[in-house]
Amino acid sequence: MNKELLMESARKMKTTAYAPYSNFPVGAALLLNDGTVINGVNVENVSLGATNCAERTAIFTAIANGYKKGDFQAIAVAGNTVDFLPPCSLCRQVLAEFCLPEMPVYLTNEKKNILELTLKELLPYAFTDLEM
Ligand code: THU
Repeated sequence: MNKELLMESARKMKTTAYAPYSNFPVGAALLLNDGTVINGVNVENVSLGATNCAERTAIFTAIANGYKKGDFQAIAVAGNTVDFLPPCSLCRQVLAEFCLPEMPVYLTNEKKNILELTLKELLPYAFTDLEM
C-alpha cells in the first residue's frame, strides 16, 4: 500500500475519534508487514490524563491482535491541522518500543501534503534498553 492510501485511511478514521474535550480529532493508520492496516483514533477522558492518542490506540490494537515488534512497516497520522501534525512524545516512545528506527512516519497538513520522516528523526537517542 502506498503512503497516499495509508494517509487516506488515517484521515477517514478521524470521524470516529472521541475528542469532546479538545475538539481535536486525530486518526492513525498503521501498516503491518503482512499488508494489514490497523487504525487508531484518539480516545479522550474527562480526567484528560487518561486520554489515549490515535497512534497509541493503533499500536496497542495491533499488539492485542497478536502482532509483534518488527511487524510494523509504516504509520500515517492525520488531524485537522494547518501544519503537519507530529506524534506526541509519549507516542514516539511507544513507537520506539515496537518499530524500527528506520520506519517511515507519514504526517499530513491542511493541503494534504505528506511529510515523510523516520521514527529516528522524530526520536533520536531513543531510550530502548534497560541494560545500557
Ligand atoms: N493527539 C493524538 O491523538 N495524536 C497526536 O499526534 C497529537 C495529539 C490527541 C490527544 C488529544 O486527544 C488531542 O489530540 C489534543 O491533544
